[in-house]
Amino acid sequence: MAHPPAAAGEPVPATPGGVPAHVAIVMDGNGRWARQRLLPRVAGHRAGMETLRRVIGWSAERGVRVLTVFAFSSENWSRPADEVSAILRLMIQALMDEVPRLADAGVRLHVVGARDGLPEELVTGMVEAERRTAGNERLVLNVCFNYGGRWDIVQAAQALAARGEPITEAALAGALALAHVSDPDLVIRTGGEQRISNFLLWQLAYSELYFSDRLWPAFDEAEFDRALAAYTQRQRRFGRTPEQVQAAQVA
Ligand code: IPE
Ligand code: IPE
Ligand code: MG
Repeated sequence: MAHPPAAAGEPVPATPGGVPAHVAIVMDGNGRWARQRLLPRVAGHRAGMETLRRVIGWSAERGVRVLTVFAFSSENWSRPADEVSAILRLMIQALMDEVPRLADAGVRLHVVGARDGLPEELVTGMVEAERRTAGNERLVLNVCFNYGGRWDIVQAAQALAARGEPITEAALAGALALAHVSDPDLVIRTGGEQRISNFLLWQLAYSELYFSDRLWPAFDEAEFDRALAAYTQRQRRFGRTPEQVQAAQVA
């Protein structure tokens, strides 16, 4: 019996020309970018925000349906206090500044991650931004903030246990913070490191990975298109043989 790969969330509509429906990005390299320019690290985070704004536009133009970005990890709290508070302030500011633009561009925003421990002003901004973009359908933007893949799996298991539900693959997938979208097709990590750093641990089971040496503030349209082009060259087998995949494509 055919057993399709499990994918959490609603089915994502097909995209034209082999464009990945769901692209996830570890936006890394802000600090090094700033250091190279003898600027404080926060200047890198600010420049990184500009890159994100551009990537949202390119994603919508290319036909990507879901864009998920890693903005602040559970582990990033261990950075110097002034950097952490600068990132929190930047996020508050971005939510205020960007919502009208996102709304105009048809982007639906979800902020994904633990809310406890965050400043009240930030949580209010997140809730308000999600509410104001809730009717949009062109592109789903998930911003992972105060997020960790392990946190996500634990909170999902705890939710099932609290409801007394049996733990199955489908139930756990449905309780994860990204249950509203299918799993990422393509993951891009900028900044040259080749690791996951506690990003979407469950959802990356069968994602294609693309590592870019570009530091996030310097990530440009040509490099984005290289990542999308690399994706079209991959054969996704989900455990099957190459011959089986080819036969299924012809049929
Ligand atoms: C990514 O850039 C942004 C966050 C993790 C908040 P970094 O700040 O990690 O930049 P590098 O890796 O130190 O250059
Ligand atoms: C991953 O980058 C987290 C984000 C991009 C938000 P890090 O810079 O925190 O990852 P490590 O510490 O180098 O693995
Ligand atoms: Mg880093």
